[in-house]
Amino acid sequence: MSSQTPYQVLCVCLGNICRSPTAEAVFRHLCDEANLNVAIDSAGTSNYHPGKAPDSRSQQHAKKRGYDLSALRARQLKTQDFVEFDLILAMDYENLANIQALKIQAQQEFGANALLADIALMSQHDPDFFEQAVPDPYYGGANGFELVLDQCESSSRAWIQVLQKKLKY
Ligand code: 4NP
Repeated sequence: MSSQTPYQVLCVCLGNICRSPTAEAVFRHLCDEANLNVAIDSAGTSNYHPGKAPDSRSQQHAKKRGYDLSALRARQLKTQDFVEFDLILAMDYENLANIQALKIQAQQEFGANALLADIALMSQHDPDFFEQAVPDPYYGGANGFELVLDQCESSSRAWIQVLQKKLKY
C-alpha cells in the first residue's frame, strides 16, 4: 500500500441503509484485495435514517458473501463531502440528479475555484450492468438484496480497472 493520501470515493443512495453501505463494504473489500490506495465511505441523499445501522436484510445477505456491514452508520450527504471526496457514485438516476443539485450548492458555498468531487453512476463502467440503476431493495424481497450485491461486486470491479489506470498502478 502506498503512503500517499488515498483517492476518496463516496457511494450514495437514498437512505444509506441498503445499497450504499453494501457498495461501501464490497468496494472496500475489492480495493483492499487489489491493493488499491482508495478509501471508501457512503451517505444518503435523504436524512431518513441518521445514525442507523444498515437494514438487517442487507446485513444478512452481505454476510453470506463475507461482507460485514454491522459497524456502518447512516448519514446524509452534505456540501463538505464535495470538498473531501474525489468521486461520488450514485446508485440510481434520482440520486444522481440530487447529488448534481447539491454540487451546485457546494460551488456557491465554496467558490468557483474550489476543487469538487466528480459525480458518476455506480454502473458507469460496468459492461454487465452498463448505466443501469441499482434498484432500491427496501420494499421488495430477498432477490432484490442479492441483486444489489451482484451489481455492487460487478460495478466495483469495473471501477477498480478504471482507477488502476487513473492512479497508475
Ligand atoms: P437505500 O434504501 O436508499 O438503498 O438505503 C432505502 C432505505 C430506506 C428508504 C428508502 C430506500 N426509506 O424510504 O425509508
